[in-house]
Amino acid sequence: MTKRTIVTLPGDGIGRAVLDASLRVLEAAGFEADYVEGDIGWEFWKKEGNPLPHRTIDLIEKHKIALFGAITSKPKDAAAQELDAALQGKGLIYSSPIVNLRQHFGLDICMRPCHSYKGNPLNFIRRGADGGVEEPEVDVVIFRQNTEGLYSGVEWSNPQGEILNGLLSHPKYKKNFGDLPSDEISISTRIFSKPATRRILRAAFEHARKYNYKSVTLCEKPNVLRETSGMMYKMALEMQKNEFPEIELWNTNVDAQMMWLTKNPENYGVIVAGNLFGDIISDGFAGLIGGLGFACSAQYNPDSGIGVFEPTHGSAPKYADFPVSIVNPIAMIESACMMLDFIDEQSIASKIRKAVAAVIAEGKVRTYDMLKMHGTATVVDQGAASTDQMADAVIAHLD
Ligand code: NAI
Ligand code: MG
Repeated sequence: MTKRTIVTLPGDGIGRAVLDASLRVLEAAGFEADYVEGDIGWEFWKKEGNPLPHRTIDLIEKHKIALFGAITSKPKDAAAQELDAALQGKGLIYSSPIVNLRQHFGLDICMRPCHSYKGNPLNFIRRGADGGVEEPEVDVVIFRQNTEGLYSGVEWSNPQGEILNGLLSHPKYKKNFGDLPSDEISISTRIFSKPATRRILRAAFEHARKYNYKSVTLCEKPNVLRETSGMMYKMALEMQKNEFPEIELWNTNVDAQMMWLTKNPENYGVIVAGNLFGDIISDGFAGLIGGLGFACSAQYNPDSGIGVFEPTHGSAPKYADFPVSIVNPIAMIESACMMLDFIDEQSIASKIRKAVAAVIAEGKVRTYDMLKMHGTATVVDQGAASTDQMADAVIAHLD
């Protein structure tokens, strides 16, 4: 078999530390690959005025699979100020390289599993009917539409001309906003296309079928967002009836779901949602299983086979320059396991997941977040495992 080439995108801040740790785990688990590093992030914004250089896009296009650490994003004005002097005043506008990557490659399926590991001191607990403490097992996979909806970037402040006329042609706009001057108005549109909606729904149903989940929950707001959520609900009903009759379709409103996720998280399996609601509920569920140190994700395009695998956390700049990295690499290691699933290396993925589970169950090696410590440069002296020590423990538990 030819060796695969994986593009590594360490990015900014703690990205490199967690990525390096997970590459060591991959190697120890017997995954053979060549790695080629791609440039992405703040450094390239400052130096080149582009946080996602074309050479990086070309690399991903060529090799198809990328492991991504994290990037730093800053607001428009701060970004402009940090540009190298030679690039100042050229009208360069910063935009998030990860959002651009998703849109460029149509990585419209985002999958975010949240499952609790036994023995994780950060697992959610609640009071049971008898007054005792219960720790419900969470095993949820969120499918988030990754390229459209409220994040599609079709937005205006101070709408003018045809845009304003179009808006005024809607009776609700005319009645509720028509008397306001345009410069008092900002608009972000929520666009759902049928092809992308169909793809995310199908990915969710197929996952439920493959892994024997009995239900798919559509988590939107069709009673209020009648056009977008309403369309998605109607399409989900049809798809369930015609293609996935053995799987139940549940329909929840996103606000109610945020309440239910702490009341009865064990009732949910596969959840599917548009971009913003998927982002929100996946963070909600991640909070039940240990938070950012445990939240992993895959984003891919099922047609081109291009996939980018990343922890959902950011670059945590306040920990980036510690002499010894203290952050938890498990979210990145789990993201690497999702990559292995994607490229049909499930047996290596399950070996790594078992080792992670064993380390957590044993409870001897825990990063600062698992010990509920405040993150400082001295946590390792106080008994917390460093990023590398956690990776070493996982490696030591590989069968
Ligand atoms: P963040 O996720 O970087 O950090 C928030 C806090 O979570 C950290 O201060 C730390 O306490 C904790 N944390 C994060 N990762 C952890 C880990 N692996 N182990 C243990 N604790 C961990 O989010 P924040 O501070 O809002 O953003 C920092 C920068 O990252 C910003 O520039 C932001 O734009 C960017 N960002 C990038 C993302 C990406 O690359 N996909 C996602 C989210 C934020
Ligand atoms: Mg998020």
